[in-house]
Amino acid sequence: MSDNTNCKPVCRTFMGGMVSKAGESWHFLVSGAISGRIPEIKMRCIVNFWQRAFLFVFLIIASVTSCYVYAQGMGDGMGMMGRGGVMDAMSQNQAFFDGKTLPIDLATPRPPESVASIAAGSKIFKERCAVCHGEKGDGKGEKAKDLVVKPWDFTFGWFKWRSTGSGEAPTDEDIFKTVSRGLHGTAMLPRSDLTTGQKWQVVYYLKTLSDFFEDEEKPKVVAVPSPTKSVEEYVAMGSKAYKKAKCYECHGHEGYGDGEKMDKLKDDWRRPILPTNFREQILKRGLNIEEIYLSIATGLNGTPMLSYSHILNDDEILAVSYYIRSISKKPSRWGMLGRMMNMTRDERTGMMIIMDGR
Ligand code: HEC
Ligand code: HEC
Repeated sequence: MSDNTNCKPVCRTFMGGMVSKAGESWHFLVSGAISGRIPEIKMRCIVNFWQRAFLFVFLIIASVTSCYVYAQGMGDGMGMMGRGGVMDAMSQNQAFFDGKTLPIDLATPRPPESVASIAAGSKIFKERCAVCHGEKGDGKGEKAKDLVVKPWDFTFGWFKWRSTGSGEAPTDEDIFKTVSRGLHGTAMLPRSDLTTGQKWQVVYYLKTLSDFFEDEEKPKVVAVPSPTKSVEEYVAMGSKAYKKAKCYECHGHEGYGDGEKMDKLKDDWRRPILPTNFREQILKRGLNIEEIYLSIATGLNGTPMLSYSHILNDDEILAVSYYIRSISKKPSRWGMLGRMMNMTRDERTGMMIIMDGR
């Protein structure tokens, strides 16, 4: 065979013996097949050039990606790999972090709302929820101080995410939905670590934390109308309804959450609260039209976001829901990296807390 000593030292120093070996066999095959047409030494060097170029580009991409991911993790004192690594949890809740509205399991028969179920729910709450929501459910858990959006206080009886009228208690399904789907951008992640039965048990327990649920009469569920116009028509109509109902006073003319009242708002606990910045945050309740409709039609109890059912008619609320969705931030199209860049600090903190087994 030929004299290939010319390229060997370069290969050895750059990629080590393995590549040199691979180079040798490659060289043997290629030079055998096309012998005489391309000078051997030139051929080997071309191979090495492409090998080096590929390795160089690969190393740059790999280091930039891992530096970014590592730095993101460091903020909350965690790493990317190891016990409960970020990658591990990311794959579990991928759809949620993609901004999607997760399906909920209403098909599996639910456990009875009995003393035993409530006791089981209490145990789940103490082990898996109290770290944020507090032992008494008053929102004063040990991790609450680390969160931008504070955990909810269940002792008051108010629930924001409902399908029932303003000031009403939620249905069991509403609470079940929140626990199953999570709230985007906050530490309240979908609890895929609980079985359907466990979710119902914890729902039953939450209802014992205030006297709001003592009323035997079930609250009426607000029906979401079916669309009768095209999406474009609704978006155009919704933009007008947004002005008519003065949503801009809080959410801003362009939807950046910078309306004139933005820094004057307080929730029912007298804590400052900001209106949603539609353009730059994924809606807590997700981008599903039905969910957006319910927020606007029923209002978010305990916050300055009131029900608009007396100001706008059903079709206008549907229209403004399409408009809000059209201007709302969309999930990233950049796969895993995009998902990581879009994750809020609260979501990362929430993920770490859940992975700690609480
Ligand atoms: C890592 C912190 C954290 C943990 C753990 C946690 N939550 Fe939450 N939860 C939050 C935050 C923050 C909110 C408020 C989000 C918002 O609506 O602004 C919230 C809101 C909620 C709501 C919505 C109430 C409403 O206004 O409608 C429900 C229901 C809820 N949590 C149930 C649970 C249950 C049940 C568990 C345990 C299985 C749990 N949470 C565990 C942080 C947490
Ligand atoms: C007085 C101020 C105020 C006005 C006016 C107002 N909102 Fe809000 N809105 C808020 C606040 C504050 C929140 C944030 C609640 C939270 O995240 O806890 C909010 C939240 C929302 C959400 C978010 C739900 C989510 O999933 O994150 C939607 C949708 C919404 N508003 C739509 C509207 C529309 C449409 C109008 C007009 C018809 C309107 N709002 C008028 C204060 C206001």
